[in-house]
Amino acid sequence: MKRIIPVIAACFVMTVLLDVSVDAQRAPKNVKVLTDLSTREIRDYMKSVSSGIGEKCDYCHNLKDYSSDEKETKLIGREFIKLVEQVNEQVAAINTSVMNKEDLQPVTCYTCHAGELAIISED
Ligand code: HEC
Ligand code: HEC
Repeated sequence: MKRIIPVIAACFVMTVLLDVSVDAQRAPKNVKVLTDLSTREIRDYMKSVSSGIGEKCDYCHNLKDYSSDEKETKLIGREFIKLVEQVNEQVAAINTSVMNKEDLQPVTCYTCHAGELAIISED
């Protein structure tokens, strides 16, 4: 028993170290707007981007290298992520003496795209 405990402890340390290095490998490499998010949070955000505009990940990404900016659609997507982030800053700054914060929904891709790339306009 006395020998087993250090072995278990060593295995635990190894697992923690491996986890950290795997996480480091997965850290986002080419993020210019969503700089506060972890890779996991970016993935969740991206799921809402995809459903918001009704396109899969490969519409914007080279699936072998998500950090690549080779697709123009990703560059357009980045501009709209910027737009959404800025709008939400303004939403957060709305005067609470005229409107309750709880009544405000953050803006997403879905707000305008409603699950489809093409925006429906009046004319
Ligand atoms: C409309 C285009 C678009 C779609 C669709 C999209 N992404 Fe992204 N993705 C981006 C943009 C733009 C960035 C960079 C964001 C930034 O610069 O802050 C990004 C960044 C990422 C990153 C970080 C890559 C790195 O290391 O720099 C991951 C991971 C990612 N996306 C995963 C996904 C997944 C998974 C999906 C599908 C569920 C998806 N994306 C769908 C546009 C898109
Ligand atoms: C304030 C409204 C608004 C929001 C929010 C918005 N978009 Fe857009 N988006 C537009 C308009 C308007 C166009 C122009 C295309 C059109 O009229 O069909 C467009 C076009 C695009 C295009 C190019 C489509 C094409 O056919 O080439 C992409 C890609 C796109 N948006 C991605 C996004 C993503 C990703 C988000 C969320 C991060 C987003 N948009 C949020 C209004 C919006």
